Amino acid sequence: MTVHFSRGIPPLEAIPSLAIAELTGTILSTEPDRVFQYAPIGHHTGDRELRDQLGAFHSVDPDRIFVTNGSLQALDLLAAHLLKDAPSHLVLAEAPTYDRAVQIFERHGGRVSGVPLRHDGLDLDILRERLRTEVPAFVYVIPDFQNPSGVTTSEEKRREIVRLSAEFGFTILEDIPYRELRFDGTAPTLLGELADGVDGARVLTMGSLSKILSPGLRVGYVIAPPGVPRALAALAESTYLSPAPLLQTVAARAFESGLVRQNIEAVRKLLRPRHDAAVEVVRKVLGDVALCVPEGGYYISVHLPVRTTEEELLAAASAESIALTRGSAFYPADSAPPAGTVFLRLPFQSLGGEEFTAGVTGLAAVARQAG
Ligand SMILES: Cc1ncc(COP(=O)(O)O)c(C=O)c1O
Repeated sequence: MTVHFSRGIPPLEAIPSLAIAELTGTILSTEPDRVFQYAPIGHHTGDRELRDQLGAFHSVDPDRIFVTNGSLQALDLLAAHLLKDAPSHLVLAEAPTYDRAVQIFERHGGRVSGVPLRHDGLDLDILRERLRTEVPAFVYVIPDFQNPSGVTTSEEKRREIVRLSAEFGFTILEDIPYRELRFDGTAPTLLGELADGVDGARVLTMGSLSKILSPGLRVGYVIAPPGVPRALAALAESTYLSPAPLLQTVAARAFESGLVRQNIEAVRKLLRPRHDAAVEVVRKVLGDVALCVPEGGYYISVHLPVRTTEEELLAAASAESIALTRGSAFYPADSAPPAGTVFLRLPFQSLGGEEFTAGVTGLAAVARQAG
C-alpha cells in the first residue's frame, strides 16, 4: 500500500457532509427562488448574511469583507488588483511558500522572489536588505501553520513586518486557511489586526472555509481596508458576476447554526493525535531536521540531508511505495533549500499514526541508501 505524503486536502472525516446536506435541504425547500436567481449586481461584494457572519467571526465590519470562490480566487483577484498599475512588479514571498500562489502572481506579471523562512517566520534581516534594494508591490505571507512548512510567524516578527509595511509603503497579503486549526498554545495576533494600530501599514487578509467546513463549497474571502471590496467587485463583475448564491447561503447558515465552530473543535480533536505522532516519529527516525514543531494545521516539513538529487530521492521513494510532492516546487525560482538538503512537505492530516510512521521509516531507509 502506498503512503501518500502528497496533497493537502482535508480527510473526509473532517467534512461534516451530512450536516451540510441537511442545511442545504432546508434552504432549497424554503427559499429556492432567491438562491436560484442571480445575486444583486452593482458592486456586489458577497451574500449579505454570509458577510455578516464572517464579520462576526473575525470581529470586523462586514463592509470590509469580499466573498470569493475559495481563497485561490481571492489570490487571483488581489494579484490583478495590486499588480495592475504597480510601479514595481516585484512580489516577495516566503521560501518555501504555497506553489499555486506563486503561479497566480506570475500569471499577473508578478516577479516572485523568495525570502528565506526560519522556524518562526521570515528572515527579517534578509527582508530588510531586500526592501532597501526595491520596494515590492506586496509581500505574501502564510503566518499560521504555513503550507508547506508548518511554520507559524511569531508575534514579534508579525509586529516588525507590519511596521516595515508602513516604513517602506508596501502591502502585505496574509493568507490564513489553517489559522483555526491550532492544537497547542495561543494564536499570535493577525497581521491585519496589528495593522489597525500602525499608521500607514496596509494588510489584506484572505480566509477560507475549505479547511474548517468544506472545500467543495468553494467559499473564501478577503478582509480589506475600505474601498478594496468595491474594486474587487468590479473585477468579479466583469468575469463571473458572483459566487453561487446557494453555496454562500449554506456557508452563512453553517456559521449561524454553530456548525462551523463545532466542526473546528472536531477537526482539532481529529488532527491533534496525528500531529503529535508525526512530530515524534520525525524526530525519532529522521533526527533534528524538521523546520519547526507546527502545533497545528496539516504539515510538518524537513530539510533532509542527502547526497543525491531530489529526482533520484523521489524516484527511490516511489519505488518503495512512498508518494512525495517535489519540495523544490515550493521555492520561488530564485531560491532553494539549504545546500546538501532536499525539502520535503509531510502532510499528516490524512494519515493515522501507523501509516505516517511506516512512511517516515521507509523514507529514512531510502535517504540512507541515497546518502
Ligand atoms: C496557503 C493556502 N492558500 C490558499 C489555499 C486555497 O484554498 P481554497 O480552497 O480556499 O481555494 C490553500 C489550499 O491548500 C492553501 O494552502
